[in-house]
Amino acid sequence: MAPGRSQRVVITSQTSEQTTMKNDEPFTDGAVETEERRGGLSRRSTLLAVAGMASLAAAPEVAAQPISERSPTADTGRVRLVVNGRQHELDLDTRQSLLDVLRETLDLAGTKKGCNQGACGACTVLLNGRRIVSCLTLAAMHDGAEIRTIEGLETNGELHPLQSAFVEHDGLQCGFCTPGQIMSGLGCIAEGHAGSPEEIRFWMSGNICRCGAYPGIVAAIADAAKRA
Ligand code: FES
Ligand code: FES
Repeated sequence: MAPGRSQRVVITSQTSEQTTMKNDEPFTDGAVETEERRGGLSRRSTLLAVAGMASLAAAPEVAAQPISERSPTADTGRVRLVVNGRQHELDLDTRQSLLDVLRETLDLAGTKKGCNQGACGACTVLLNGRRIVSCLTLAAMHDGAEIRTIEGLETNGELHPLQSAFVEHDGLQCGFCTPGQIMSGLGCIAEGHAGSPEEIRFWMSGNICRCGAYPGIVAAIADAAKRA
């Protein structure tokens, strides 16, 4: 309490229901100071004390509980995903994008986060065989889905034919967009949209390459489509 501050609180009238105070510092703790000065407990200090005791009592129990055993809160939900052939049962924040779950929960950082708003295609994965930008969808919306990411393409250490074609045709420079280009290219071929360079350019237009490696990307997809 600041020295002399309580002196400025003047009680001008008081009934059993209401206390009216004149204070040159409105909305300060003048009332509290007055009560404390009178030796009583203020409403605020009582509430703070009760809240403090309650949190102290609850804290050790919650802290001692392993995270996996804590009951899901309103913002979490159990989601089953099959990612690159592996089953996962996850308690997720229902607001997490599929991209964030892949990268941060499952440590599959091959899928890239570029714009995080559906404009660049760097985060493309296959969801139940169809290409999708994983930054624009919530993982919780896909319970039971099969996801394939760039990490799931090689077999016994051998690159997927489309990965090899990207290497052969110089379909990359810095490589940041490449996982998304390859996953989208797989979708493009599976959809039957890789019949000509023009068709490939059109159906791959959602995947941006800031290095401008487009001629190699188109050539790689056309080559892999012929071999498929
Ligand atoms: Fe998803 Fe760019 S990061 S579209
Ligand atoms: Fe650099 Fe495409 S290779 S962004």
